[in-house]
Amino acid sequence: MRVQIAPSVLAADFMNLGKDIEMLNNCADVIHLDVMDGTLVPNISFGFSVIDQLGKIARIPMDAHLMVVHPERWFENLKKDGVSMVSFHYEAAGEDTANHIETIHSLGMKAGVAINPDMPVETLFPYIGKADYFLVMSVFAGFGGQKFIEESLERVARLRKELDARGYDSIIEIDGGINAGNIKAVKEAGADLIVAGSSVFRAEKPEEAVSALRDA
Ligand code: DX5
Ligand code: ZN
Repeated sequence: MRVQIAPSVLAADFMNLGKDIEMLNNCADVIHLDVMDGTLVPNISFGFSVIDQLGKIARIPMDAHLMVVHPERWFENLKKDGVSMVSFHYEAAGEDTANHIETIHSLGMKAGVAINPDMPVETLFPYIGKADYFLVMSVFAGFGGQKFIEESLERVARLRKELDARGYDSIIEIDGGINAGNIKAVKEAGADLIVAGSSVFRAEKPEEAVSALRDA
């Protein structure tokens, strides 16, 4: 299955972000931006002033992964910054999830719903046919460099089976701990948008790490 690789800027060299974005322009499919607020997750990353700058040089789509409470406060900012895909956590949105999807669509962006590893994957099922993509976390949101949680494979497979059964080929994004050792299993499970932070940016040749993940 042809998959897309979305390196996570969280693992990039913050002293040389422009250089890393140029590198991603030339080898990756999507740029994954982890936005954290220190409340939904126990960490803070970067915000709109950074994303706005990155948007000026990005030539591939930017995918914002909002790990924040009240994600709806920020959809317009992201649109202005040039983001074309926005995911927010079900843990933050709850019953507002369908409304948020509509708001993101009304701004002309693709909408994704994200869940942490301890949220049943069935939580996503009501949004099939509404959301453009689903982000199944394979680590607990908050930090790069964590170990892949194996049960994530089964969760992705269950979601893919449900999508197939209902006749939707929505994107399944998977995020956390993905590397050359587990990429094949991740693809086989049915994920088609693969986030990778450490395994790309800690590689000696990040461009080659991206191609290797894509072609595995
Ligand atoms: C974690 C983030 C991930 C993270 C992935 O909260 O959502 O996108 O940067 O990094 P690795 O690939 O190092 O697990
Ligand atoms: Zn992420």
